[in-house]
Amino acid sequence: MSKPRIVVTRHVYQEALDHLAPHFHVTHNQSDQAYTLDEWIALLCQHHGALTMGIEPVNEQVLSACPNLRICANLSVGYNNFDVPAMTRHKVVATNAPDVLTETTADFGFALMMATARRITEGENYIRRGDWHKWKLDFFCGAEVHGSTLGIIGMGRIGQAIARRAAHGFGMKVIYHNRSRLAPDLEAACKASYVHKEALLQTADHVVLVVPYSKEAHHTIGAAELALMKPSATLVNIARGGIVDDLALAQALQSGQIAAAGLDVFEGEPKVHPELLKCHNVVLTPHIASSTKSTRLGMAMLAANNLISFFNEGRVLTPLNPEVLP
Ligand code: 8YV
Repeated sequence: MSKPRIVVTRHVYQEALDHLAPHFHVTHNQSDQAYTLDEWIALLCQHHGALTMGIEPVNEQVLSACPNLRICANLSVGYNNFDVPAMTRHKVVATNAPDVLTETTADFGFALMMATARRITEGENYIRRGDWHKWKLDFFCGAEVHGSTLGIIGMGRIGQAIARRAAHGFGMKVIYHNRSRLAPDLEAACKASYVHKEALLQTADHVVLVVPYSKEAHHTIGAAELALMKPSATLVNIARGGIVDDLALAQALQSGQIAAAGLDVFEGEPKVHPELLKCHNVVLTPHIASSTKSTRLGMAMLAANNLISFFNEGRVLTPLNPEVLP
């Protein structure tokens, strides 16, 4: 029997391609060109499976054009590129890549919160501009991190990993909001207390967003929510573009409604709202929260193993629609 045909949509580590090679005819894209929608559909319809990056849409339009497609394996934990109910209707298995990136992404969320609170990139830019001529007592005065109150919105695996760092490493008081409250043992491990979203926004010195994107989560933070925050507070988004209303945030940063923000994800990325680019009090990074070699390789290998397990054994490691499996 001939091997199934799979497409790997963007550049991946050679180790991952070598891992896939014995099992599949692999179409790769090591030149890393992003596809237009038409190119994506034309390519996908010639394949039985895809290793996707969490960016490529897999929705009704795409699925209707790809009757031979059996599985799409995202290399990311987020899967807002998938219309999972449509995939289930078309009997296409969906998988994501949880766990392998939890601690690395939490490290980055914490780093971004600290860089934002302590104005690290502002200070660096000041030096690079050649503006540093003398020391001043109130130079780039930032916000305390240790002993302050951290508010986490979205208390999944990554939120909990950030909470542990905050409570155990920095003596922070941790409050959180989530669709459902954590079990008491998990709350105790993170030393975190559940509060309503409004109370969190009013109380926290630093707010970190780790909530998965969904239509319901669109603009979880907009003008009304920013208005509840303290003028000294900071906001960090490592979740997804669209969780924050970026224009409302830029306005809040410009008016001093909040002190600073750290953003790894943006509405319409890789474009960044021009009003955000004008703000001196925002730390900007290009969606790199999970970006260490070992973690990104782990994500690619998990996606590859989902494809291999599916075609060889009819099962997957991290299913999003298990009802489609044989
Ligand atoms: C990915 C992420 O690197 O896993 C996720 O959901 O946001 C990142 O870790 C990114 O989605 C790749 O497109």
